Amino acid sequence: MRENGTIFIADNDVKTRDLVSAFLTYQGYCITAAENDALFFDTLQKNNVDIVIAELAYLRSIAPDFKERCAQLNPLLVLIVYGEAGAAEYKKIGSDSVFTLPKPLNLDELESLVMRAREYQSMKMFDFSSGTSNQSHLLSATMIGTSQPMRELFDMISKVAASNATVLIQGESGTGKELAARAIHLLSDRHAKNFVPVNCAAIPDDLLESELFGHVKGSFTGAYANRAGRFEMADKGTLFLDEIGDMKANLQVKLLRVLQNREFEPVGASKSQKVDVRIVAATNKNLEELVVSKDFREDLYYRLSVIPITIPPLRERREDIPVLIHTFLTRFNSDKRHAVKRFSRDSLGILCNYEWPGNVRELENLVERLVILKGSGLIVPDDLPEKYLSGKPVQAISVQVPSLPSDNILPDGGICLNSAVDAFENNLIIQALARSGGNKKEAALLLNLKRTTLIEKLKKKNLAFVED
Ligand SMILES: Nc1ncnc2c1ncn2[C@@H]1O[C@H](COP(=O)(O)OP(=O)(O)OP(=O)(O)O)[C@@H](O)[C@H]1O
Ligand SMILES: [Mg+2]
Repeated sequence: MRENGTIFIADNDVKTRDLVSAFLTYQGYCITAAENDALFFDTLQKNNVDIVIAELAYLRSIAPDFKERCAQLNPLLVLIVYGEAGAAEYKKIGSDSVFTLPKPLNLDELESLVMRAREYQSMKMFDFSSGTSNQSHLLSATMIGTSQPMRELFDMISKVAASNATVLIQGESGTGKELAARAIHLLSDRHAKNFVPVNCAAIPDDLLESELFGHVKGSFTGAYANRAGRFEMADKGTLFLDEIGDMKANLQVKLLRVLQNREFEPVGASKSQKVDVRIVAATNKNLEELVVSKDFREDLYYRLSVIPITIPPLRERREDIPVLIHTFLTRFNSDKRHAVKRFSRDSLGILCNYEWPGNVRELENLVERLVILKGSGLIVPDDLPEKYLSGKPVQAISVQVPSLPSDNILPDGGICLNSAVDAFENNLIIQALARSGGNKKEAALLLNLKRTTLIEKLKKKNLAFVED
């Protein structure tokens, strides 16, 4: 099962392998390793690996052309190599998909490289799925996220961008609806023309019609000259109708007519005007409910939702939180010329468990505020505003969720039952510790164990280091 991504650890030193493996499992990654050297590439291929973390000398002994062989398996694969002299020979490659670290491994540095690797992959993924190589578009349209729902969203956006179909984007406030609308425009053939946003809730009802369709001179008091509306401005481009759920009934009829006939009449005009506009609408209201309560026209709803897209709230894709934090931290450090190093593991744990009613916007604002107030060093729980600390953890942070045995999990060649059961047990323990923020008493309660039994198990399994 993949949550944050699958990482393959290549080191013949079992202790390092176990340490890195438990550390990254705790961060929510799915970890795999080859049982022996002969199965190395086989394991890599079968597990859909995203990142390889490898020890330099071991890598050399496995295959000198390792990098090339990995690239053939998965063009998005990132390689993190550690070794003597900072794995200098790999540093020389100078590729975006190769990172190097000195030996002995510093786990904090490793964690930050893994996040950079995931960030790089999410950008590239967007690139691959959109089939475009125009970097400036990609950058301005970049939506960060490596979770399964976000991967599906990127895929959807790149597919719909190519068509002219009307898109309805739904999602809670701050989930990234406008960002998604802009991405659709930028990845479409219309990208050289205007992307024109209209916030239907922010413009007073009596002005919205003229704002959308324009007006002719003298058509109402204050109409001193002809004025083009947003539809005309968006000709050959994209019109983004934001907060569409707030549009009044009389305008809903007029909008329906434009969608049907692709023509409109400016206020006070006697002739209609043709227009070639792609419509993307968005709302944080539940339009289907508004249709039932007769606050939104059913026919307009169907016209708008030719392609419906729903952006899930952040609390349903918690695995995106660390990478979003990292991205915003880098951005605000650079904008504000500050040098906040990173978030401590426990502060990250608290934020991963928070509900985020304001979604990505709330997270972005929090990181900006913390960068300004802190200026440098490490963000620790004491730096977080009270409300983030008081909330009870709601769900486990995105640690690999152990699935109960389902069909066909027994490999053809059989399995070592003891080590499989051991791995399953480790996984549950790590999850319980993640959910309790490292508190062993709470974790033991979750596992229906005595605290002392849990501590014994941790010692036996050499998992004691998970404490911050
Ligand atoms: N996946 C993402 N990656 C990076 N930034 C994001 C992402 N999603 C949202 N943001 C940022 O969060 C903020 C809110 O996004 P946006 O304005 O698109 O949300 P919205 O859904 O339109 O919100 P509202 O319903 O309140 O208008 C923006 O600054 C945007 O850049
Ligand atoms: Mg918006």
